Amino acid sequence: MTRHFLRDDDVTQAEQSAILDLAIEIKRDRWARKPLAGPQTVAVIFDKSSTRTRVSFAVGIADLGGVPLIISTASSQLGGKETASDTARVLERQVAAIVWRTYAQAGLVEMAAGTTVPVINALSDDFHPCQLLADLLTIREHRGELAGLTVTFLGDGASNMAQSYLLAGATAGMHVRVASPTDYAPDDRVVADADAIAARTGGSITLYTDALEAVAGADVVVTDTWVSMGKEDEKAERLTRFGQYRVDADLMALAKPDALFLHCLPADRGYEVTTEVIDGPQSVIWDEAENRLHAQKALMVWLLAQ
Ligand code: CP
Ligand code: NVA
Repeated sequence: MTRHFLRDDDVTQAEQSAILDLAIEIKRDRWARKPLAGPQTVAVIFDKSSTRTRVSFAVGIADLGGVPLIISTASSQLGGKETASDTARVLERQVAAIVWRTYAQAGLVEMAAGTTVPVINALSDDFHPCQLLADLLTIREHRGELAGLTVTFLGDGASNMAQSYLLAGATAGMHVRVASPTDYAPDDRVVADADAIAARTGGSITLYTDALEAVAGADVVVTDTWVSMGKEDEKAERLTRFGQYRVDADLMALAKPDALFLHCLPADRGYEVTTEVIDGPQSVIWDEAENRLHAQKALMVWLLAQ
């Protein structure tokens, strides 16, 4: 059966670890693996803007011997004009895999159900699992083992990044803390799924409203924009609600002295994070951005071998 990567918990702890091992191997020897030689084509579809995801998939597919076909939804029949499942059936006759950045998670589920080639979530409103592979790779490079580490995400707890931290962090056996206003807390079903995973892996999930409490003693501190793509109409309200979750030097000082700072980027400097922190010695954001390439190549190699 075709494996897809629509959510962080579409892989087990052992599979996640194997993909990260592969990413480390691929990072050391960038052009050694060519599963897309032919060349085969991978469709990479964007309903939303992107810099990192577009570049890292295009470069990664080329590195693997393939050809990236970048499709903007606005100039295709997808997006109201043709269903995801019909699109999937057209694409599968010609491409080796489908990568899609979209709004509703349900669209990805429909796309995957309609096709025999792997479908990869390149960000939806609910999850950003490719980013989490890059984040976990970065944390592993800087800290070794993931299991047992405490990671705190601050800001919009209902965002794709917060929810992916819950699922991917739990899968890795990490202690995941999310701090947000109560009306921006993660979806109950995602929390329940993450809790169930954490019970198996030895991790844990804790939700906070208090940023100081959530950061105390953390190994890793993470934030993201307060205004995700699609939420622009709520910008004014959000900027007034998230102030206490801004990651500044005082907040970082409550985490472990050597705590890492991560941000998936793009950042709104001065809002969710101060320049002092994002450009400071604890920040590993450029490694994190580069690791999108290596982690996604590993994911594609792994999926194509299933
Ligand atoms: N982090 C991330 O996904 O960045 P882009 O929106 O630039 O792809
Ligand atoms: N949460 C952000 C991530 C951007 C990469 C968004 O969805 O806009």
